[in-house]
Amino acid sequence: MPSLFLDRLGIRQPLVLAPMSGASTPALVAAVSNAGGLGSHGAGYLAPQTLLDDAARIRELTDQPFALNLFVLPDEFHEDQPAIDFARATLDTLMEREGLAVRTSLPERWAPRFSDQFAALCEARPAVASFTFNLLTPAQLRELKRLGITVVGTATTVAEARAWAELGVDAVSLQGAEAGGHRGTFLHEPEEGMIGLFALLPLAARAVEVPLLAGGGIMDGRAMLAAELLGATVSQLGTAFLACPESSAAAAWKQDLPTVDDTRVTTIRSFSGRPARGLRNRYVDAMRAHESRFPAYPVMNALTAPLRRAAAAAGRGDLISEWCGQAASMSRAMPAAALVETLLKEYAQARDSLA
Ligand SMILES: Cc1cc2nc3c(=O)[nH]c(=O)nc-3n(C[C@H](O)[C@H](O)[C@H](O)COP(=O)(O)O)c2cc1C
Repeated sequence: MPSLFLDRLGIRQPLVLAPMSGASTPALVAAVSNAGGLGSHGAGYLAPQTLLDDAARIRELTDQPFALNLFVLPDEFHEDQPAIDFARATLDTLMEREGLAVRTSLPERWAPRFSDQFAALCEARPAVASFTFNLLTPAQLRELKRLGITVVGTATTVAEARAWAELGVDAVSLQGAEAGGHRGTFLHEPEEGMIGLFALLPLAARAVEVPLLAGGGIMDGRAMLAAELLGATVSQLGTAFLACPESSAAAAWKQDLPTVDDTRVTTIRSFSGRPARGLRNRYVDAMRAHESRFPAYPVMNALTAPLRRAAAAAGRGDLISEWCGQAASMSRAMPAAALVETLLKEYAQARDSLA
């Protein structure tokens, strides 16, 4: 099955660059695809035209397959006015105290309309499309299949893996609790969806028959092999690629990665209104007490955007969302092609040592 699935994806190596909104770039995606893996572009924050432009740019840089990823969201969002007012007041006070010369504002839209992003993705027609935050509708899945796109759904629990498999996707991407970035959990409370990859992988492999992508804390070739032994078809690595020069993670964020202590990687709701794994910093500590009163994603994400932009420009890593998985300090600041080569060498060595 593994090689059949790799053939289906059109890739040579069992390695997928995880989609990373806010960090993946066409150059990073293309570098991984050119090196024999599957590059994925996190397009969840992108306006439809930017998604199309980025897909065109990826195609200029590689003739290999790549994936585009979207957050499955409703087209319109609930506006909890008291929560919005509270968040704006809290953020404005913080920015003033921290000497940042910006304040919150109300955006035209809280986030791009999902149905427009979905239409753009269909137009871009990547070899693979992956989705997180919720299930697609049967009609959306049919449309992707009609276009010949391989579809991957993200699951954080066995029930979610089953739900995607029953819908009829080609593969399920398992997001272990170790994983950096937003939690994909959609059938459960966030804390219920915090299953470690070593438990989730064999459980899901027993429950569903579709190929499994494994993500969460995989930072080297040994861990790729370990995931395979537990039932993964391919490993999906995100944090491992954050420090690459091709990643658009802010300079302060890249600088912090090697020093990240495992106990400081935590689940944070205060940046975006949705739980996400990242580095506990000054902002996270200051907002912890208010977190439950902030509006949900994507409203909170839009409200914190001015702060995150200004803080990144000022080199204030202590105030930006530094998403990363639990093993972040193992990330290596090398060009993506060299990193893929290193990971595959380690993977082969680990296989040989077992043989
Ligand atoms: C900076 C960052 C952004 C992410 N953005 C997305 C995204 O847009 N879509 C998605 O499905 N997953 C996203 N994720 C989660 C990854 O796809 C994947 O689950 C995770 O990176 C795997 O764990 P690791 O970071 O320990 O390798 C993101 C992760 C990070 C670190």
